[in-house]
Amino acid sequence: MSESLALAVLISGSGSNLQAIIDAIENGRLDAKIKTVVCNNPQAHGLQRAAKHGLPTRVFDHRDYPDREHYDATLQQYLQSLAPDYIVLAGYMRILSPAFINAFEHRVLNIHPSLLPAYKGLDTHQRALANGETRHGVSIHLVTAELDDGPVLLQANFPIAAGDSVEDLQARGHRLEHQMYPQLLGWISEGKLNIDVNGRILYEQIPLEQPLHFNP
Ligand code: GRF
Repeated sequence: MSESLALAVLISGSGSNLQAIIDAIENGRLDAKIKTVVCNNPQAHGLQRAAKHGLPTRVFDHRDYPDREHYDATLQQYLQSLAPDYIVLAGYMRILSPAFINAFEHRVLNIHPSLLPAYKGLDTHQRALANGETRHGVSIHLVTAELDDGPVLLQANFPIAAGDSVEDLQARGHRLEHQMYPQLLGWISEGKLNIDVNGRILYEQIPLEQPLHFNP
């Protein structure tokens, strides 16, 4: 890719994944440019992180809109005006409507704290513990109209030990997450992993099986 990968990062909360992407760009590990950080929650800590690094931020507070359709239409229009290569969901806690997904087909990525297809939705750590799982993990996937259902691009897993709490799993998952988005976006920006217009995922120079398993 001759130009840096152009990203729009969508957040709702702490923004630690956003921070990991910012850090990777700033220390030269990732050739990308964050064109905007969009947030639905005016109080989100991630907004401060973005501002601290001089990144443009935009808040679209969902409470100001009558319904998801209007909200997503505004978001879509704004993002289309910036024409990012990828929309990166990094703890964005809203479901995106099919119209939005279609407008950016195969260009929306999400990070999810489970080994998809297991544990879609919320409270993944609680549910994994309650079911006595022995392994848990994190997945990055392409977003489709079905919640947490698109093709998995990268997955990392770790063992669950006896006595682990939700917080333990959260912390372990986060440590992986912070390496995974920079790694995956790096592969995309280096042309090692391509997602073509039909959503076909092509790992051109990464000699691993699909989905990729991440070993930190
Ligand atoms: C992460 O655990 C991610 O998997 C989930 O939301 C959380 C976001 O954390 N989708 P942060 O805001 O990046 O710290």
